[in-house]
Amino acid sequence: MTSLYAWIKAFHIIAVIAWMAGMLYLPRLFVYHCAAEKGSVQSETFKVMERRLLRVIINPAMIATWVLGLWLAWLGPDSRFGWFDAGWLQAKMALVLALSALHGLCARWRKDFAADNNRHSQKFYRIINEVPALLLILIVLLVVLKPF
Ligand code: HEM
Repeated sequence: MTSLYAWIKAFHIIAVIAWMAGMLYLPRLFVYHCAAEKGSVQSETFKVMERRLLRVIINPAMIATWVLGLWLAWLGPDSRFGWFDAGWLQAKMALVLALSALHGLCARWRKDFAADNNRHSQKFYRIINEVPALLLILIVLLVVLKPF
């Protein structure tokens, strides 16, 4: 069982890295996309990059992170409702929910860009760009230090 747990954790971390890489990159693409003129070659290229990043990397990585994370939580250190009673996991899941909500918003903004209908400024996406990094730091501190 220990080795199954270790395998799941390894793939959980791989999925987390892919999800976070995408979540850190997509708002940065939005920042540059804001500066591209509508209908320009550059703007159309950003559309393709954003769609592929979301469909090929970010969406599957988020699903894998959730499935593997919940599996780990269920197996726990010694099972029988696993880690679900632990305060650190509950706090972590709240932060992961926030990250997932941001993911959903990014998907909506991508659709707006695809329709040449972006309603936000470059500054807005620059600020949004910092949020996944902040959530990532808090989540990793919670899961590694398990402070409560
Ligand atoms: C709902 C989603 C998630 C659940 C239920 C979940 C749950 C878990 C559980 C139970 C562990 C094993 C902890 C241990 O054995 O000590 C773990 C490990 C880990 N998780 Fe998650 N996780 C989720 C999402 C995330 C996210 C979004 C990140 C990062 C942004 C993340 C980062 C990590 C890391 C780095 C580890 C390895 C910690 C270690 O081995 O010390 N997880 N996760």
